[in-house]
Amino acid sequence: MTSEMFDVIVIGGGPGGYTAAAKASALGGKVALVEKEALGGTCLNQGCIPTKTLLKSTEVLEIVKKAKEFGVETGQEEVSLEKMLDRKKAIIKRLNTGVEFLMKSHKISIFKGAGRITGQGEVTISTLSGQLILRTRNIIIATGSKPAVIPGLEPDEQWIMDSDHALSLESIPSSLLIIGGGAIGVEFASIYQKLGAKVTLVEARDRILPFADEEVSGDLKKMMTREKIAILTEAKVAEINKSEEGLLVNVETPQGIKKIQVDKVLVAVGRRPDCENLGLEEIGIRMEGEKIAVNSKMETNIQHIYAIGDVIGGILLAHVASAEGSAAAVNAMGGQKQMNYSVVPSCIYTTPELATVGITEEQAKNEGIKIVVGKSQFISSGKALAMGENKGLVKIVAEACSGKILGVHILGPQATSLISEGALAIKLGATVEDIADTIHAHPSLPETLMEAAEQAVKLIYSGK
Ligand code: NAI
Repeated sequence: MTSEMFDVIVIGGGPGGYTAAAKASALGGKVALVEKEALGGTCLNQGCIPTKTLLKSTEVLEIVKKAKEFGVETGQEEVSLEKMLDRKKAIIKRLNTGVEFLMKSHKISIFKGAGRITGQGEVTISTLSGQLILRTRNIIIATGSKPAVIPGLEPDEQWIMDSDHALSLESIPSSLLIIGGGAIGVEFASIYQKLGAKVTLVEARDRILPFADEEVSGDLKKMMTREKIAILTEAKVAEINKSEEGLLVNVETPQGIKKIQVDKVLVAVGRRPDCENLGLEEIGIRMEGEKIAVNSKMETNIQHIYAIGDVIGGILLAHVASAEGSAAAVNAMGGQKQMNYSVVPSCIYTTPELATVGITEEQAKNEGIKIVVGKSQFISSGKALAMGENKGLVKIVAEACSGKILGVHILGPQATSLISEGALAIKLGATVEDIADTIHAHPSLPETLMEAAEQAVKLIYSGK
């Protein structure tokens, strides 16, 4: 047992955990961070950052392939998966070091090992050299999630992969079947199709990205299909048989069984909270199924124990985990902060990108809200045409009586950056007139947002 008494011990060093640690320290706390693997969590090591580095490599490949259209002659393009993976590793390493530096600059003690709650205010850390017991006034659990598994289709490092494995393949499979048309499924479909694999995406529901606006996700499906990604909706894998040629997958579709021969299968059917070996049962933490139950202040049922991020379920996004981490840290240090999830941008890094914030047209109608929908296509944007990326649209959902913006949905170039204007507009309670009246730079992609707002204003004034 160390004699030190901490104000806050954070278990888990992902974006939720390290943000919580930094915030608690900034508020004057003596803080420890416990992490058994590399700092940065899933986002930095097996999620957002590695997928985005690989996506960038595939985008560069696309640009080189299209170089002639832009008046640039290049030689025959060549893909080196090894160099792409090296670049990915280097970026991860740099960011790992960045997080470590951030923690050190906040004077946070980092403990390498697996943390377990062994009593009120007590965390035991198992390290390679033995066990260490730490004392603390508050604990924040930020242990994240792991890929969900389909029974019988567990990852085997050869045929069946989860997203962790799919980020480190040593060669590009000539064909790949992805189970799950959520965020991970569509992003990997985009990456591997560009790298030359023949990709089939199997989604159980009637559309890919079921959380997104129906029209926008429908348009993305059409674009991905045009890129020769086969998308089967209302479909499920019934059976997989291994043979010398690879895998023969039977997929149940509304049109009957389809037999698909592939090299590899990627399972991307969601993620599950990771509560393994945390001692939750012994200490009596209340669970909701597999996730830790918390209130809007991130408090568990046990005083001075908080939980944040993927381990509490809800919206599994790094930026949500960070906001929850920050709220938990404020509360642990004696403050009063409640989480508010009304403005959470969600970004999908396909080509083109898809981004969404606020409510969809469908949700508004289901909730009986009278709305107007302003739209504008990137095809009429000078900037998008100059960039050679003119597919997609901006769609603004606004309250019909007031023009207040309720949702913004974007499919198109740099949608994941453009969505910030929509998020800020909703956060500030802005109307479509506010965006339409704001001078937007010309030529620029945000003009398309302004044009969608102008269209919504016209609809409001015409009473349609
Ligand atoms: P997800 O929950 O987003 O999507 C899983 C999809 O698989 C759903 O559409 C579901 O209907 C489908 N599905 C489930 N069982 C199936 C089956 N047996 N056969 C066919 N389809 C089936 O989960 P995903 O994509 O694995 O991502 C995990 C989490 O990570 C999500 O919460 C996601 O938001 C987050 N994430 C976010 C990213 C982003 O924001 N860019 C990127 C990657 C992950």
